[in-house]
Amino acid sequence: MKIGILTSGGDAPGMNAAIRAVVKSASYNNIEVLGIKYGYKGLIDEELIKLDNSIVDNISEKGGTILKTARCSEFMGEKGRRKAVDTLNKFGIGSVVVVGGDGSFKGAEKLSKLGIKVIGLPGTIDNDLAYTDYCIGFDTTLNTVLECIGKIKDTDASHEKTTIVEVMGRYCGDLALYSALAGGGDIISTSERKLDFDTICDKLSKNISKGKSDNLIIITERIYDIRELQEYIERKLNISIRNTVLGFIQRGGNPSAFDRILASKMGIKAVELLIENCTGRVVGIRNNKIIDVGFNDVNNINTNKDREYELLNMLL
Ligand code: ADP
Ligand code: F6P
Repeated sequence: MKIGILTSGGDAPGMNAAIRAVVKSASYNNIEVLGIKYGYKGLIDEELIKLDNSIVDNISEKGGTILKTARCSEFMGEKGRRKAVDTLNKFGIGSVVVVGGDGSFKGAEKLSKLGIKVIGLPGTIDNDLAYTDYCIGFDTTLNTVLECIGKIKDTDASHEKTTIVEVMGRYCGDLALYSALAGGGDIISTSERKLDFDTICDKLSKNISKGKSDNLIIITERIYDIRELQEYIERKLNISIRNTVLGFIQRGGNPSAFDRILASKMGIKAVELLIENCTGRVVGIRNNKIIDVGFNDVNNINTNKDREYELLNMLL
């Protein structure tokens, strides 16, 4: 057996730890691993490198992905995917581990339908894959967000100012929600629980009238224009506030211990599944147990966050 591994979509801290775990556990079982560079693009362009223990020995502490990553429109078409399969056949690779998010899994499922054995590992800071409690990268990014918010709060407190902070997450509010649960915010608006501008103003003016002179408003990206929200609040409440878009700082940095361990356990599980001849499965963690489900169940399992939002009501 020869395994190929690729990282695809947005990079996430912990992807390197996943690569290390796959290479090391494969080597433990005398299986060769080839790294596919630039996600699916590397399959189309035949960019593959041999991975061995010496290459992956010191990578688990590094952010990003040593295999690079890309978004590849060619792979969305059947012609591109056939080319990818030709490359895999040419290099004698029958099994592929795909580390990525929702989009990468859609590609992985299509690859598995073309006869390649495929296992997916959830690598995305957004934590937007409902079948798993945690995705690789989320914990590190959450800690980065909290560190940044802490710094903003220092200056806000000194100037008695309010700041709107926009965090990543694509269409998932987990980074905002968990930041607020951890004490990082005073008002929160996410894709799942979007507040209108007037509600945000009401909450803010209530806080101010209670004597809270600095407030942190966390919003998930894409739900509205942060400048528009800022100007609306300033006009309506006749105050001056700040805005900060955290941006790509959230995707970088050394992975947390949690992400490194999660990625290691998941990487080993992927190799175990391939050895058991399984295909079309994605690995996850639920109730602190490593699990695997079929591609069909990736978005079907409803992890509803009602309880977390209820807790937030008591905390904010
Ligand atoms: P993520 O995996 O982080 O969600 P993307 O949504 O950008 O990132 O997907 C990464 C890559 O996965 C895309 O650039 C494309 O190559 C592949 N992909 C995404 N959706 C599909 C699809 N429906 N069919 C085939 N490939 C897909
Ligand atoms: O999926 C990870 C992520 O960082 C999202 O949070 C964000 O919306 C998106 O990727 C940004 O993508 P790009 O790197 O293409 O700008």
